[in-house]
Amino acid sequence: MTDFAATRALFDLPEGVTYLDGNSLGPLVRGVPERVAQAMTDEWGRMLITAWNKAGWMAAPQRIGDRIGRLIGAPEGTTVLGDTLTIKVYQALAAALEMRPDRRVILSDSGNFPTDLYMAEGLIRSLDRGHELRVVAPEEVAGAIGDDVAVLMLTQVDYRTGRLHDMAGLTARAHDAGALTIWDLAHSAGALPVDVTAANADFAVGCTYKYLNSGPGGPAFIHVRPDLMEQVRPALSGWLGHAEPFAFDLDYRAAPGIARMRVGTPPILQLAALDAALDVWDGVDMAEVRAASQALGQRMIEGVAARCPALQLASPADPDARGSQVSFRHPEGYAVMQALIDRGVIGDFRAPDMLRFGLTPLYIGAEDVDRAVDVLAEVLDGGLWDRPEYRARAAVT
Ligand SMILES: Cc1ncc(COP(=O)(O)O)c(C=O)c1O
Repeated sequence: MTDFAATRALFDLPEGVTYLDGNSLGPLVRGVPERVAQAMTDEWGRMLITAWNKAGWMAAPQRIGDRIGRLIGAPEGTTVLGDTLTIKVYQALAAALEMRPDRRVILSDSGNFPTDLYMAEGLIRSLDRGHELRVVAPEEVAGAIGDDVAVLMLTQVDYRTGRLHDMAGLTARAHDAGALTIWDLAHSAGALPVDVTAANADFAVGCTYKYLNSGPGGPAFIHVRPDLMEQVRPALSGWLGHAEPFAFDLDYRAAPGIARMRVGTPPILQLAALDAALDVWDGVDMAEVRAASQALGQRMIEGVAARCPALQLASPADPDARGSQVSFRHPEGYAVMQALIDRGVIGDFRAPDMLRFGLTPLYIGAEDVDRAVDVLAEVLDGGLWDRPEYRARAAVT
């Protein structure tokens, strides 16, 4: 049994704050500052450059990648960390397109995170081989998988609504049509049980600063299906993905295995933070996390339905059809969220009108959801959001 009181104690949350934004930036895990300080002072400070070998810095992207692999059902040696998710999407897409040279369509949906679509646009332009990015509504994806599709590229959990795609079902359908799949697990890894092996996913990518709590700018991960690995020809053919980086050959030769998805020097301090943050998963049963997250979601939806008639549910009502967040629409959603944050309930806002609340049972319980509903009702009933300072848009929403 997962002891959620014990996991909550592992997080360093500010007093008086109800934090429902771990789907955007996970909170600080206790022990992370000490681990980062150790990497700075004992490793960087004392070992200097010898730490690349002595402190295992060079091996860290794959060693810690395997720890993420355990959370997404990936076998050892198939997941590596580095760069940002945007870059990992590009790498996966470039590799997949090269593996389907006779096809021209990248199929995605309008629920995908814009950076994934933007990277596809940029790659299509660079390749200049007549590829097309086809974007359909999420419910139309299955029907749009034809035999012209090279790659199906989707985010499993919609960042705005929380709607959950059937990864195994859509992958099987894509494979039947001869297409490859890329799954963006940004809102899945650490949020719900994921099994890329059972789903037969070809590529999976994700970030670590949301449900995996690596801190702002933490490195992203990429997983490649083991039997495809040696077919992958890295487009971002950086020296640390070379078979022998320290041979300093003038020609690129891809490293065997997942190491080829490395690009350049890894962010050692962020990796140290991630490594320490991943300790919270020791002894945690992901099925229990899922059950607890679904219960929190239902509690929030029912509370809002009963007390906040001005809010419209934007997430699927069926808990099995959504990830670990619930979202509501309000025409003045931005101002409403600022009023909430001002009262110590932190969620976020996604244009045009969406209030988002991440539900993370490792450190959020029923009392937090009840408090959020209380404050939402107070803000809406009293029109407390209707102030110019709450309407003034900040750079990050
Ligand atoms: C689904 C999804 N994909 C990609 C990204 C972009 O990730 P990054 O800024 O780390 O490159 C995000 C960021 O929130 C995201 O939610």
